Amino acid sequence: MAKFTVTPWEVTGNIDYDEIQRKFGTTPIDDTLIQRITKYGDPHFMLRRGIFYSHRDLNWILDRYDAGKKFVLYTGRGPSGGTHLGHIMPWMFAKWIQDTFDVSMYFQMTDDEKFLFKDLTLHDIRNTAYENALDFIGLGFDPEKTKIILNTECVKTLYPLALKVAKKVTFSTAKAVFGFENSANIGQIFYTSMQAAPAFLASETEGKEIPCLIPCGIDQDPHFRVARDVATGLGYPKPCMIYCKMFPGLNGEDKMSSSDENITIYTVDTPKIVKKKVGRAFTGGCVSVDEQRHKGGNPNVCAVFKYNYCMFEHDDCKLEELSNRCKNGEILCGECKAILTQKINAFLEKHQAKREEAREVVDSMTFDGFKW
Ligand code: TRP
Repeated sequence: MAKFTVTPWEVTGNIDYDEIQRKFGTTPIDDTLIQRITKYGDPHFMLRRGIFYSHRDLNWILDRYDAGKKFVLYTGRGPSGGTHLGHIMPWMFAKWIQDTFDVSMYFQMTDDEKFLFKDLTLHDIRNTAYENALDFIGLGFDPEKTKIILNTECVKTLYPLALKVAKKVTFSTAKAVFGFENSANIGQIFYTSMQAAPAFLASETEGKEIPCLIPCGIDQDPHFRVARDVATGLGYPKPCMIYCKMFPGLNGEDKMSSSDENITIYTVDTPKIVKKKVGRAFTGGCVSVDEQRHKGGNPNVCAVFKYNYCMFEHDDCKLEELSNRCKNGEILCGECKAILTQKINAFLEKHQAKREEAREVVDSMTFDGFKW
């Protein structure tokens, strides 16, 4: 048994992404598919680098698109805490899809989910959701084509859809897919139908088949397996998925966890905090400078390199050069950390300005017109 867990509620250990894919039954994104995507635009670096690495029915949705049928995008956030880099990684990719294919986006904020699964009040969760929404909007989603759903506010629209889903999912399926014990509260058992609902929203509102593409972390697949299973029976197209790996922690582990704030960079962190956190990051360096000059470092295990790989160095040539200079012992960890700190701080400075501007539009981008 591999020592890792990937479920919608828990991601721990050293994740074997190929095994997850096999277990979930999703399809690898191969060179042929990436080649196909070049038709619409330069493939995003997260595709080229295998960060978005797995999918369900992407070819089908592209066939539809080629035939003139636009899809909608759908992704979401469970607002349990401040936004960190691990959250915005897939959102950046989603924004690229919106721009490349000129499509609409539903962003679901599951305050209900976090209430049911965590020891938090609805009031606090709503405030967190507002803050998270600023980050999402700050990434530059088209205000005309992007709608933010807050489950407890948009329930009038979502509930009828969720009911249709719920009626088709038995308790034994929910137990098998999510591993619920008898102690699970009954809201948790129902919840997956709320996460499925936005996948069918466009088809329902338009009264015709509108394909839906969901970019997100592969940990969410159990929800969407259920959604796909019931789709046809409800007269909706099966939602399609494009899945990414988890964003690494600064300690070199596979997932940046919100529970350990030292290994996590939040979008509101100050330059000083970023410097401190990156300064303590796990690297692939040697114990002494001499040894490292001689033997070189190991970028494969290095959190600083992973951050460049996943988010902060978009240029493949420069990334390769960094890797080579590390392996040759030309660049040492201190210098590399200083460069990454600068890159992160430059990004955050701009992002923080944009998330402030987002306060002006956050009310105009809500689904069903609710007010924060
Ligand atoms: N369950 C997700 C979380 O805890 C939130 C979510 C809702 C979501 N709908 C989604 C994530 C669609 C990805 C795609 O973060």
